[in-house]
Amino acid sequence: MKTADIKACVFDAYGTLFDVHSAVNSLAEKVGPSHAALSAQWRTKQLEYTWLRSLMGQYVDFWQVTGDALDYAMDAFNLKDEALHGELMQAYLSLETFPEVKEILTLLKRCGIPTAILTNGSDVMIDTAVKSSGLESLIDHKISVDSLSIYKPDPRVYQLAVDAMNVPAENIAFQSSNAWDASGAATFGMQVAWINRYAQPAERLPGKPVAEFKDLNGLPGLVGVC
Ligand code: LAC
Repeated sequence: MKTADIKACVFDAYGTLFDVHSAVNSLAEKVGPSHAALSAQWRTKQLEYTWLRSLMGQYVDFWQVTGDALDYAMDAFNLKDEALHGELMQAYLSLETFPEVKEILTLLKRCGIPTAILTNGSDVMIDTAVKSSGLESLIDHKISVDSLSIYKPDPRVYQLAVDAMNVPAENIAFQSSNAWDASGAATFGMQVAWINRYAQPAERLPGKPVAEFKDLNGLPGLVGVC
């Protein structure tokens, strides 16, 4: 399927380009048998805190939220270990990319499609992640919610991408593995590909994606570059 008039591609970062579970995986032995459950709890709490803090008007940046969520998760699994907390946070700065990411971004670049990351992550987090994964030359804009002090899916966040890229929402393809983020971007008016990496059911939320793929390999067909 090809969708007409895509002039730019915008990507969510965590879970879409970067594997959030690779931080705990890299320290799985130290974390112990609950490592997968801890990683899942960490991610769930991290997202909940973004939504809750936005509703409360109590923004702190994503680094703080990520640390607080890890604190909670470690507490829930009776892992009281400050050194390990520090190591996991360091690992979160250089997460692995999913296997197809570099190839797809390279293809978009070769075809002259402008690219951006639009993320809850702070500038430092996203700069470090992009650098450590060698994506620097493939991403034209790194856009953080930090300048707004509010998290996704507030519509003002998606407007940041429109402003940075100077492309109307309806001409932007937005990719996210987070179905609620896909919903936010679609409601805002972007053309959304839901990257359903974990075969999850669709959210019962407004804003329907124009496409659903299991990874980013479906994107070039949607954009029409090849
Ligand atoms: C992000 C979160 C939603 O990168 O994964 O914005």
